[in-house]
Amino acid sequence: MAVYRVKVATGDVLQAGTSNSISITLVGSRGESRRKNVSAVFLPGMEKELSVRCDRDLGPIVLVRLHKWRLFLEDAWFCRDVRVTAPDGTLYRFPCHQWLEGVITLEVREGSGKKLADDDLEILKEHRRKELEARQEAYQWKTFAEGWPRCLNVGSIHELDSNVQFSCVRATNFTGVLVFQGASHLLAGFLLRRTSWKSLDEMRSIFSRTRGRDIVPDYVARRWREDDFFGYQFLNGNNPIVLQRCAALPPKFPVTPAMVAPFLGGGTHLAKEMEEGRVFLVDYEVLEGIPSGTIHGRQQHVAAPLCLLHQGADGLLRPIAIQLSQTPGPASPIFLPSDGEWDWLLAKTWVRNADFYSHQLLTHLLRTHLFAEVFAVATLRHLPSCHPLFKLLVPHFHFTLHINTLARSVLINPGGIIDKASGVTYEGLLLIVRRGLAGVTYASLCLPEDIARRGLRRLPNHHYRDDGLKLWDAIASFVGGIVDFYYGEDAGVSGDAELQAWVMDIFTHGFLGRASSGVPSSLQTAAELKKFLTMVMFTCSVQHAAVNNGQYDLGAFMPNAPSSMRHPPPREKGKAFLQHFLDTVPEVDTTANILVALILLSSRLKDVRPLGQYPEERFTEAEPRRLVRAFQARLEEIRELIEERNRWAEPRYGYLNPRETENSVSI
Ligand code: FE2
Repeated sequence: MAVYRVKVATGDVLQAGTSNSISITLVGSRGESRRKNVSAVFLPGMEKELSVRCDRDLGPIVLVRLHKWRLFLEDAWFCRDVRVTAPDGTLYRFPCHQWLEGVITLEVREGSGKKLADDDLEILKEHRRKELEARQEAYQWKTFAEGWPRCLNVGSIHELDSNVQFSCVRATNFTGVLVFQGASHLLAGFLLRRTSWKSLDEMRSIFSRTRGRDIVPDYVARRWREDDFFGYQFLNGNNPIVLQRCAALPPKFPVTPAMVAPFLGGGTHLAKEMEEGRVFLVDYEVLEGIPSGTIHGRQQHVAAPLCLLHQGADGLLRPIAIQLSQTPGPASPIFLPSDGEWDWLLAKTWVRNADFYSHQLLTHLLRTHLFAEVFAVATLRHLPSCHPLFKLLVPHFHFTLHINTLARSVLINPGGIIDKASGVTYEGLLLIVRRGLAGVTYASLCLPEDIARRGLRRLPNHHYRDDGLKLWDAIASFVGGIVDFYYGEDAGVSGDAELQAWVMDIFTHGFLGRASSGVPSSLQTAAELKKFLTMVMFTCSVQHAAVNNGQYDLGAFMPNAPSSMRHPPPREKGKAFLQHFLDTVPEVDTTANILVALILLSSRLKDVRPLGQYPEERFTEAEPRRLVRAFQARLEEIRELIEERNRWAEPRYGYLNPRETENSVSI
């Protein structure tokens, strides 16, 4: 007689408990137990203990079967884990973290991370094969738009399957609709006004309606006109990936040394400043020729500006020349800080408008949300739950499929917020993302290379870079430890067929098989794998936080991030004045529509999981658990460094504080 002590735990998420009946079978390498009732009525967080008696020793316990059936009403159950203590005292842990719905038998493997080559028992090989078959049936690719990364093949959040191995949807009870309704209610008066704002001051009144403590929008409203703050946002704003060192001016931007000499400080000239790395360029070429739409029947306008910036002797970055088109000439003057106040302010505002599209559609949507979804779907399709990289990565996809499905329903769909309240048409939106994907490189997704490539290593006050690199290194160190533990030699990497299928799926469906992107289609060495995993985790967590978390802060005061322009770009100087400015930037209702979206995109949801926090323990071995703790300790050190820096920084940069940085793209 062998007696096994069994503990079955229900998750502590909302509605995790069940009144349906649950039973369990233990499966060992030498046989299996009879099915044993665990008992009915589980409550969230509850743990049930029972004994399972067998005629003989089952050998090492390799999996458990959980059976759920119902007598009357269906009541889904979220199982956290099962622990089995064998007669010899050995503890086996079975992390589950899954919903069981309907009448179902779910097989849960013992928690040690296992690659395909690590499995020798036929029953385990069969388990991983069947799990992947089911996942590939449930999670299929879909083309949302030609030239876009592919996405999950569901039409709405209601089609998201909470039963096949992976879902956090039920756990959160969030639809986004409530936030929309609440924000829309608060802004009701503004949403009906189809007129220009009466004054710049009046624009402040809108965000005082929506939140109690709007310190940053108020700061922005005070400083948005200043060249320092305009330059600052290219380093630490919502779109910190478009600035690059300018060693030579492109012919399409014929700035002369004489034009900018007054803004460089004494005793120097443009060529010297460029040679010494203090001149920078932002080029919104991706917007050239994008079709602009109408709002309330009125034609809107899109420009593709170029902006030259200079790092002054005080270390601050300031714009020194702006051209509002890609075609130089008399109809596209180069605006300078010495121009009339409204000419210069309007030129900068056109750049901010171009930055709105560049940020929202490329930096935010494409390069974090859509890529995160690609990583998530490929992971579900190719890595079984027992795979160490599934355990590593799956917390970094928490809620991503849900939020992206929601975005496709209300934000980027025809008639959605971007279509309705920005200057580009739906076709324009599709084209911008298509062009953006065609230009994405692997190097640009890897922060250390991206910073080097853009020539930004030495710029002072670049908090996005400084915080981001610390976090990149912390993730790389954690990931490196995991890869060393599970893979060891390079041969383990190149020979892992599941891993190779995963990378190929990302290359094929995420980057559309474009080799010139530099994105790998296979991984041959442990070093290559570590870098790729670091990029995936960083993109889903840190990069998204950097480009997501400040959207309300920096966008609530509309002239700092106008979503549309109602007059064409100026073709000559001296024609801009206050009323023209007010009649160019979005009218009141468009401003309010965008603000509703910003409130949604900046809201904190329930069940927030900060970077490095893994409430669902999936690793059971000592070493990966130690690595998790070391990662958390390093994140805590980084948090202290950031908070210390922020005591003196003005404005504070907290978007990459690990406590504010979520594990995944979840909003
Ligand atoms: Fe986001």
